[in-house]
Amino acid sequence: MKSAAVLLAGLLALTAYYVYLPLPSTVSDPWRLMLLDAAFRVVQQSCNLAHYLGLGHHLRVLNFVIGTFETFNNPQFSELVTITDTQFDGVEVRVYEPSAAREKTLKRSVVYIHGGGWALSSARGSYYNNLCLTMAESLGAVIVSIEYRLVPDFHFPTQFHDVLRVAKHFMLPEVLARYSVDPSRVAISGDSAGGNLAAAVCQEMSQEENVTNRFKLQALIYPVLQPFDFNTPSYQQNELAPVLPRFVMVKFWIDYFDGNYDFAHSMVINNHTSLDVNQAGSFRERLDWTFLLPSRFRKSYKPITHPTGKAEIIQDMPSLLDVRAAPLLAEKEVFRLQPKTYILTCEIDVLRDDGLMYAKRLEKAGVEVTVDHFEDCFHGCMIFTVWPTNFAAGLHTRDSYLKWLSQNL
Ligand SMILES: *[C@@H]1O[C@H](CO)[C@@H](O)[C@H](O)[C@H]1NC(C)=O
Ligand SMILES: *[C@@H]1O[C@H](CO)[C@@H](O)[C@H](O)[C@H]1NC(C)=O
Repeated sequence: MKSAAVLLAGLLALTAYYVYLPLPSTVSDPWRLMLLDAAFRVVQQSCNLAHYLGLGHHLRVLNFVIGTFETFNNPQFSELVTITDTQFDGVEVRVYEPSAAREKTLKRSVVYIHGGGWALSSARGSYYNNLCLTMAESLGAVIVSIEYRLVPDFHFPTQFHDVLRVAKHFMLPEVLARYSVDPSRVAISGDSAGGNLAAAVCQEMSQEENVTNRFKLQALIYPVLQPFDFNTPSYQQNELAPVLPRFVMVKFWIDYFDGNYDFAHSMVINNHTSLDVNQAGSFRERLDWTFLLPSRFRKSYKPITHPTGKAEIIQDMPSLLDVRAAPLLAEKEVFRLQPKTYILTCEIDVLRDDGLMYAKRLEKAGVEVTVDHFEDCFHGCMIFTVWPTNFAAGLHTRDSYLKWLSQNL
């Protein structure tokens, strides 16, 4: 009896140790967030074990688990919105069309790209289905949600090209007309890895010579924008933050490029972009956060740049410096061509500074930018609006995003 009590106490202590995560006092729903993070870690570690045992790639297993979890949460439907699964230029898309009343007038539209490290989630899963349905309803807009192909079955640049093909196809005058969309009121948007694809494709579309219609806006939700510096103040500050710790983000990048995990520890300390890596040189000043970030975000963090590192990393994964993967590395001339931009950032997010630096570079290039920063929010929160993963952070960010789109699109 006594030993059982000791064992139980020990288990409880271990569980508490595993679940407990020091979080900033500002965060909303801290306990719920700790539980979400602990659950996510348990699942990820089980997937890593399955990977190690040769049962399947950990990301494929993880996506299967997420997909199964999502089925508990029935996708919402609405009488006001027609949902169609179809293909645009061979790429699968789910289209949300507000019906009835507005039929005759031309509608606004958003091309939406879901997040998940280029490897997880789906346009058809309940999380993104519900987000896009809410967008279609509240904006009265046609939403095109892209089911691009995922890592590890496909790697960069497949995801970029899937999204670009959809964007080009949808922007054709005859396709916009078929969906009663006003060609001058179309935005491109996405969260996390979807924000990365949105920004990269927006850059590409802005440089294409013979497209008739371009995006009016881009709206990037805590986007991933560069794999050059994993020691920005937000990467240092949130190294172990919930949902997306630094090491997990570095591994998502490696998987995107079908690279070697052995490089992960070197990349975490910026050994892939040390001063002796010549290819990195010309990009360095494009993401120099010592002058791109305001001091309230820089705090007392110091840049990490070593004189020598590992040049073989860039040789093995040259795409680390490809602007189609890292839109923050684009040259100034490309920034000048970008449309009006909304960037949502969260304080508890390694990617906060990716977004803030992108905003600063756009601003310097003369583009109108709204930065919507949330002190109490964490990476990925915008899709967490429904029980059991319902967070005040999810509703706050989603409302703010929808409000901006409603006023600007
Ligand atoms: C421009 O459009 C023409 C005619 O549709 C096409 O043949 C050509 O490949 C396009 N050019 C580029 C750069 O996409
Ligand atoms: C980083 O690079 C330096 C210089 O090549 C090397 O001595 C060090 O072991 C590297 N560290 C890691 C973690 O790769």
